[in-house]
Amino acid sequence: MQAKILVADDERHIADGLQMLLADDGYEVDTATDGTAAWEMIQEGGYGVVLADLRMPGVDGLELFARMREAAIPAEVIFITGEASVASAVEAMREGAYDYLEKPLNIARLKALIPKAVEAHQVKQANRSLEERLANLSRFGDLIGQSDEMRRIYATIEAAAPSTASILIIGESGTGKELVAQAIHDKSPRAKGPFIAINCAAFPREILENELFGHEKGAFTGALNEKPGCFELAHGGTLFLDEVAEMEPDIQVKLLRALEQRSFRRLGGKKEIQVDIRVVSATNKKISKAIDSGELREDLYHRLAVIPLHLPPLRERRGDVRILAESFLRRYAEENGKPIRGFSAEAIEFLHSYRWPGNVRELKNTVERATILTSGEQVTPDDLRFYELIRTEDREVRIRVGTSLEQAERTLTLKTFSFVEGDHQKAASLLGIDEETLRSRLSRFLASDPAPAT
Ligand SMILES: Nc1ncnc2c1ncn2[C@@H]1O[C@H](COP(=O)(O)OP(=O)(O)OP(=O)(O)O)[C@@H](O)[C@H]1O
Ligand SMILES: [Mg+2]
Repeated sequence: MQAKILVADDERHIADGLQMLLADDGYEVDTATDGTAAWEMIQEGGYGVVLADLRMPGVDGLELFARMREAAIPAEVIFITGEASVASAVEAMREGAYDYLEKPLNIARLKALIPKAVEAHQVKQANRSLEERLANLSRFGDLIGQSDEMRRIYATIEAAAPSTASILIIGESGTGKELVAQAIHDKSPRAKGPFIAINCAAFPREILENELFGHEKGAFTGALNEKPGCFELAHGGTLFLDEVAEMEPDIQVKLLRALEQRSFRRLGGKKEIQVDIRVVSATNKKISKAIDSGELREDLYHRLAVIPLHLPPLRERRGDVRILAESFLRRYAEENGKPIRGFSAEAIEFLHSYRWPGNVRELKNTVERATILTSGEQVTPDDLRFYELIRTEDREVRIRVGTSLEQAERTLTLKTFSFVEGDHQKAASLLGIDEETLRSRLSRFLASDPAPAT
């Protein structure tokens, strides 16, 4: 769509002249001969580019620009300026004005500048609507979630998908790393190509090497036929290396080489095979630890993590719990032919407060089990079997006879506090004291010697 242009200049002949020139190029052009009129027209919207004289009586070009910025009006602004005020125009460009044209106007420069400004405006509009779209998403591919954290992930996937840059997904078990990898593939230009996943932790060294690079006939005893590896199978698509921090050091060296050169040899082969692949990998390890301990080569890490993507654990995006739980419930209720309407209020409360150490996978399994076991129309905390879910040692303290009250209180308080993950309000309410008392006791307990083992 062609953008609309507004020309604001108090010299009528300039405004009219520009209108004619730009209309010749196919633009729809309005004019205003003072800043106040221009501002009214701009507020009504629809302009992609505003050409504004810097010096106008009343509302001048700079004021107009300032108002537009304040109202977040997305049009690009080009100033028309005399020699004397070039400096202010340059200053305004630093604040986001698109460019300026000096009087007397150079027509060739004007005609070159306008299409660029129109394009800049359109690109910004497109990005803006992408941002707006992502900001409202509650699912993306097969990923469900509407927390800011997940929306950031969606935006990163969307931005990274078109390139071939390697992406390393880092997140606890069950956070959805494989789904993210699949979403990257599906959103990429390689979506029609293969998505080949291999779990690097699942194979002993020799077999992993064989799985990754394949072998020639006769490469080893029993190699009766040639066999292509994952690198070849993923040609034209995406190779997903799961649990990538679990590889033996010498395979890491081979992998690094293959990634750097985008070529490799099959076991027992002489020929270098070139492949066009996008590599996405995943790990649930603390990367800095894995590198420090020598488990993961640092050079390989940098090669894999051109774009690192941190998937936060579910307990750090509790806002997603409900939407995930409800969508799993709908799915499993349908699959099992159960007329379940939803979760009871208490069940929702439990889902929210539970720590989900197994993340989305645990939530999914919990909901599936509840769906199958429940006999009512609503899932209740009993169906979620939440007393079994919370590991016993997390909610029990053992206090020996002979322990002082002070010591017992200390143990119970600290255990409660850690059980609610440092939530003062919850801890205080469980302990039946007010928050201020809790805080003062915590600081007293934390300052004293550790409790004897309980
Ligand atoms: N955001 C999500 N929306 C919907 N389903 C999800 C989401 N995240 C995870 N899941 C589901 O949870 C389960 C675990 O996800 P996935 O296998 O991707 O986790 P992972 O991070 O690869 O775990 P692991 O480290 O154990 O391999 C899958 O069944 C997946 O479909
Ligand atoms: Mg996985």
